[in-house]
Amino acid sequence: MDGRRAVESLLAFWAEAGVGAALSEAPVDRMAAGLAALRPKPVGPAPAPAPPVRPAFGQVRPVDPGVVLAARETAASAADLLQLAEAIAAFDGCDLKRQGARQAVFARGDPGAPVMVIGEGPGAEEDRDGAPFVGRAGKLLDRMLAAAGLENRVFITNTVFWRPPGNRTPTPAEQAACAPFVERAIALVRPRILLLAGGASAKHMLRTGEGILSLRGRWFEWRSEAGFQELPALPTLHPAFLLRQPAAKKLAWEDLLTLTERLDRPDRRT
Ligand code: URA
Repeated sequence: MDGRRAVESLLAFWAEAGVGAALSEAPVDRMAAGLAALRPKPVGPAPAPAPPVRPAFGQVRPVDPGVVLAARETAASAADLLQLAEAIAAFDGCDLKRQGARQAVFARGDPGAPVMVIGEGPGAEEDRDGAPFVGRAGKLLDRMLAAAGLENRVFITNTVFWRPPGNRTPTPAEQAACAPFVERAIALVRPRILLLAGGASAKHMLRTGEGILSLRGRWFEWRSEAGFQELPALPTLHPAFLLRQPAAKKLAWEDLLTLTERLDRPDRRT
């Protein structure tokens, strides 16, 4: 191709690509622009992660004793886990039910399990499938439980039964509204040990403000609201946290071994 035809071909290509003018009003120093592009750019701080969606100030409702009473009465009338699941689905006292959740997510696992795992609250996959811990965190939880010999020996539920919008932490009022159902589930399953997965579960169930990193791996005595039920409870790290911080899996593994040691101890009732 001669020079003239090559230039015509290039111009036709640019025109096709939408270039409308070959010249601009002001000269452009492309060498300087090129050198500037090669200069190392100052590395700024990493962008801050998006803040979790929290209920706006003023939207966080205090615990409503009327709601808790209604939940307690409804939960008490459930004679078995099936009735409890139906009672939860019909219960309107938890604000989360009206914040975009598709359905109530109650529980999965062995109804006679010796260990009850209590997580924080359903996420997107759980909201879609109607069962707790079925997403990535749940799969990790299952793998860890199986590795510790606890497969088929757990009943799994959460402190709240509707997905908090944006996966935010449930508020104390939301947890309080669901608590009588959790207590009823404990009374019906009669586990020997509670495994509290994550800070939101451990703090709520043990009524403490202590952080999960200091709670985890230590035995506590869980007591029902009215004090009629008592069980050993072991807080551990949440599997979603372990997905973000894989180095912490070692700690969660130690917690599971602590749990199985107590569960399978031949000489003592837990
Ligand atoms: N995280 C929880 O705490 N519970 C679930 O069911 C899923 C994720």
